[in-house]
Amino acid sequence: MPASIPLSRPDITQKEIDAVVDVLHTSTLSIGPRIEQFERLCAKVAGRRHAIGVSSGTAGLHCAMIAAGVETGHEVITTPFSFVASANCALFVGAKPVFVDIDPKTLNIDVTKVAAAITPKTKAIVAVEVFGHPGGMVELEQLAQQHELVLIEDACEGFGGQFAERKVGSFGRAGVFAFYPNKQITTGEGGMIVTDDDTFAHACRALRNQGREGMAWLAHQRLGYNYRLSEINAALGVAQVQRLDEILEKRRQVAHWYIERLMTNRYLILPTLDDETHMSWFVFVVRLNDLFEPGERDEVMRELRAEGIGCNNYFPPIHLQPYMMEATGHTAGDFPVTEYVSARTLALPFFTGMTRKQVDRVCDVLEKTLEKTLMERKGRF
Ligand SMILES: Cc1ncc(COP(=O)(O)O)c(C=O)c1O
Repeated sequence: MPASIPLSRPDITQKEIDAVVDVLHTSTLSIGPRIEQFERLCAKVAGRRHAIGVSSGTAGLHCAMIAAGVETGHEVITTPFSFVASANCALFVGAKPVFVDIDPKTLNIDVTKVAAAITPKTKAIVAVEVFGHPGGMVELEQLAQQHELVLIEDACEGFGGQFAERKVGSFGRAGVFAFYPNKQITTGEGGMIVTDDDTFAHACRALRNQGREGMAWLAHQRLGYNYRLSEINAALGVAQVQRLDEILEKRRQVAHWYIERLMTNRYLILPTLDDETHMSWFVFVVRLNDLFEPGERDEVMRELRAEGIGCNNYFPPIHLQPYMMEATGHTAGDFPVTEYVSARTLALPFFTGMTRKQVDRVCDVLEKTLEKTLMERKGRF
């Protein structure tokens, strides 16, 4: 049996290990020079004036909701096709997530359907760049301006990407990145809020640090949280972001190997790209086409896993998660494009050091499995 291929894997070199060990030789393990350096580097990646390091992408979105003034009674427009944190952040502050169905090409919120969802209670839009795709952000920024809404860019999956001349993280009032180990760069756990707005940045700095606005340790000007990122995590982040060009180039190569191999496959729909979209590749997600029935994607996943190939069903619809159905009253059928896409998407192994040989093996097994799944269905009827 050939070696298994994981769904994702961080890319850690001796440079990162040395950076972390260096911190451990100091007595400053939190609130020190590494977080400041990491913030400066991330601000540059996003083309923003401020960057505020936090303990996770979720913590960043929570702070962004509070800094944007979202509270009980407000509505927040967002996508049902994402990781749950992009909708949960509305619930954290007592607001209601209002879902808008997605564009089947970009898999991001369908910008043509957003205006109809705006009510007098709408305060913000949390726009997710799903799988790192920045499609629709320019239009959402205009719409948010027209309707005086706060646009928060959930850029947790898009660190280092670009749309035309605009960097991912530069749209709307603020952007949020995440650095979990499956992301383009990692800090173990971590996140980053980026913004050009001084007041917003000031609020986020206080919110992540127990509501402190100055240096006094026991003076708390507002209700805050401990969402700080340690020096150990930040040192790892600095070493990773200094390798960003190399990391993104390697990931681009892996994505192109997949595209080259799978573009002629008659059962798959590959990510839709255009000339203006410069992807920072986070994952490689394919969609089974109409020849497949929804449940068959899960059969394909089982077969791949049995062959030692990591894969996952990114993403199940958020509005159908049990707690979200309870909170919003949504049921199956409410967002047909999301539900259709969700039943057919399949994330394949994708990581920085992936080799062409590994990509070929994933594609060989996938192609064989797709044929077999259809043949077995024919055999059943
Ligand atoms: C779109 C999106 N938003 C938010 C998050 C939350 O980030 P974290 O896991 O760092 O809290 C993630 C993480 O996967 C994400 O993909």
